[in-house]
Amino acid sequence: MTQDEMKQKVAEAALAYVEEDSIVGVGTGSTANKFIDALAGMKSRILGAVASSNATAERLAGHGIRVLDLNEALTQVPALSVYIDGADEFDAGRNLIKGGGGALTREKIVAAASRRFVCIVDETKRVDVLGAFPLPIEVIPMARELVAAEARKLGGEPRLREGFTTDNGNIILDVHGLRITDPRGMEEHLNNVPGVVTNGIFSLQGAAIVLMGTPAGVQTIG
Ligand code: A5P
Repeated sequence: MTQDEMKQKVAEAALAYVEEDSIVGVGTGSTANKFIDALAGMKSRILGAVASSNATAERLAGHGIRVLDLNEALTQVPALSVYIDGADEFDAGRNLIKGGGGALTREKIVAAASRRFVCIVDETKRVDVLGAFPLPIEVIPMARELVAAEARKLGGEPRLREGFTTDNGNIILDVHGLRITDPRGMEEHLNNVPGVVTNGIFSLQGAAIVLMGTPAGVQTIG
């Protein structure tokens, strides 16, 4: 089974976590795109979706799925029923690295506004220790060197994501070479560096459930 086929299987499996007549939080990336395509088959059974990026909003709308602004959604319901999104890495504790597509800030916001986060990945994303995938950090442009210096102090090698601006008008530093043995501590530490908008560690609020695609089928972790 190819990686693409594993992504397709987990995307379809995630439909089981979509509650009828609810508002669904939807992530960004190639796996999330497959979920959006699958969600289109049940669009008449949900109230709508909140998107974690402009690209996801366009794809949802292209399928005729109602897209709600998060603030609008939270005037109708106390929380989104579920947030469904991919990840770049996950560990046994369901801590994640996200942001390979640069949408980490809105992803973290929509995840936080949801009752649970169901993460959809293929088995290539599983690691023992987070950090082989460069950690994305969204940074306010004037703080680039300040944040880069802090990343070096942590043992990482920050690189500016060239030619990329986030949906929020900021830059991304991808930090290579980290070995993240304390995801929660590092997430908190980076959150406290002035100029950091969001870092790509999802540990304070990791995934409630990871659906992992393997050649033998979809495994549910959590
Ligand atoms: C987007 O910013 C990311 O957080 C994605 O969730 C992550 O990069 C996974 O993407 P794929 O599903 O394309 O691997």
